Amino acid sequence: MTSTVPIWVNGELVDPAEATVSAFDHGLLVGDGVFETIKSVRGEAFALTRHLDRLAVSAKRMDLPPPDMAAIAGGVRACLAAAPPWELGRIRITYTSGPGPLGSDRGPGGGTAIVIVAEQPRLPATADVAVLPWPRNEHGVLAGVKSTSYGENARALAYAKERGCGEAIFGNVAGDLCEGTGSNVFVVTGGRLVTPPLSAGCLAGVTRALVLEWFGGEEADVPLSALYEADEAFLTSTTRDVQPIRLVDGSGDPGRGAKVELPAVPGPITAEAMEVFAGRAAADLDP
Ligand SMILES: Cc1ncc(COP(=O)(O)O)c(C=O)c1O
Repeated sequence: MTSTVPIWVNGELVDPAEATVSAFDHGLLVGDGVFETIKSVRGEAFALTRHLDRLAVSAKRMDLPPPDMAAIAGGVRACLAAAPPWELGRIRITYTSGPGPLGSDRGPGGGTAIVIVAEQPRLPATADVAVLPWPRNEHGVLAGVKSTSYGENARALAYAKERGCGEAIFGNVAGDLCEGTGSNVFVVTGGRLVTPPLSAGCLAGVTRALVLEWFGGEEADVPLSALYEADEAFLTSTTRDVQPIRLVDGSGDPGRGAKVELPAVPGPITAEAMEVFAGRAAADLDP
């Protein structure tokens, strides 16, 4: 990806062609870092406080040196001020343990912090999703951490794209519904709106939390099969907001093996959630 918008690296705003980090950075060598994706709306960050709080929690859970949150927040402001006020933008914060040895031991230095902003294209109005043949390990130390160790997610999204889908859905080791590679998932069954609890191994999505607060829904474990059998279902994420699921491709799922079109897209509960979310988000940029 190329851009002419300046990038913030460790406290300095630099031309993207000149922005560099060490080849020894542990984020690059072993995925030893954390990140955030935040949306901007006409040049203003949305839910910045919640995203910065989650970055600090992710860093703590990985036992990284504590990030300088005030400096990073300043980096976000500086990048937004230098960028055009796009209708929709994407702010990416990356924070790693900094330069380190070639193995998994950490280096003694401070962390590396980077902020990049870019224009964000609107995502499709509905999502086709592929259920993955590999589970998310809800017991792992990185479960629910927004870590730069996203190789599993990159592989999973490529699996979905090979099947013509826009998102991949993980079940977990217990066989329950978990999350997408970059989204949380909600299902409606018999009028009941449910999303997996954080103990299922999913990320504490900012959009998920806002939907639960503004619109409602239960946090409960449901079997992965609930996605195929749902009356309606939707994804939530920073770049999607609330996105109805149209089709669930279970062709690679040993428990299923077929594609299912959901009966209502968007169904009535999803349509209401989309409307409530859009209204509340427009009224408050830092909820
Ligand atoms: C694994 C995963 N789950 C869920 C989400 C959705 O979280 P948010 O609503 O904070 O974007 C993301 C965000 O990209 C993610 O990476």
